[in-house]
Amino acid sequence: MIPGGLFITGTDTGVGKTRVAAALLRGWGARGHRVVGMKPVVSGAVLQDDVVSWEDVDILAAASTVQAPLTLRNPYRFEAALSPHIAAQRAGQCIDLGVITASCASLREQADLVVVEGAGGWYAPISDTKTMADLARALNLPVVLVVGVRLGCINHALLTAEAIRHDGLSLAAWVANMIDPEMLAVAENMATLQSRLAAPLLGVMSWQPGIEYDLPDFEWDILFESAQ
Ligand SMILES: Nc1ncnc2c1ncn2[C@@H]1O[C@H](COP(=O)(O)OP(=O)(O)OP(=O)(O)O)[C@@H](O)[C@H]1O
Ligand SMILES: [Mg+2]
Repeated sequence: MIPGGLFITGTDTGVGKTRVAAALLRGWGARGHRVVGMKPVVSGAVLQDDVVSWEDVDILAAASTVQAPLTLRNPYRFEAALSPHIAAQRAGQCIDLGVITASCASLREQADLVVVEGAGGWYAPISDTKTMADLARALNLPVVLVVGVRLGCINHALLTAEAIRHDGLSLAAWVANMIDPEMLAVAENMATLQSRLAAPLLGVMSWQPGIEYDLPDFEWDILFESAQ
């Protein structure tokens, strides 16, 4: 059985959460499962030919096999490329975790797997008092941590893994995303991450610039352990 839902977090913003979420959707979609991506909160719109869109929402939709309403897949979207709590405040909106959990529950009824992508890192604020961690706790899904492999990532990865455990969630697996083609001592850094992160390595995404990239060779079975 595949996990009914996964929450994708990362060591920072821009480390490959969307890429990994899309890969998970495409991998399980290709195996015949009904899959849908969810981005509960997104900020930073793209304006092209007078049309506003949000890249993450579009990428996840393109990787999904279930066509669900935008309001369920993405309850909160803000045009300004700001931290969600500031973007929401400027838009005069309040991010309601109840709306997000209800949307996710509805998606789970329509799909075998819902892949939920967080915004920013684990403690990215979504209101004056709440962070992405509160959102993840409300959804109560196993977590996949995307480590953007670059200088400084070990500290970010260990801090994030510790925070996930502290917040009572299960770190089901982590992914090494090779976002820096100039990174030195990759093998040694990978060995350190593998020995210190108390979670299995789901796989490595190689450096592949552009929007077309190969589906990574993940250890898909690892996530079966976290099926719920
Ligand atoms: N392995 C890779 N090789 C080359 N480019 C990559 C790789 N992974 C991600 N990128 C690029 O880096 C950028 C950030 O990736 P992505 O959007 O997946 O990050 P993110 O963590 O989802 O960011 P955000 O916090 O904005 O949601 C994108 O332009 C993406 O195409
Ligand atoms: Mg993203």
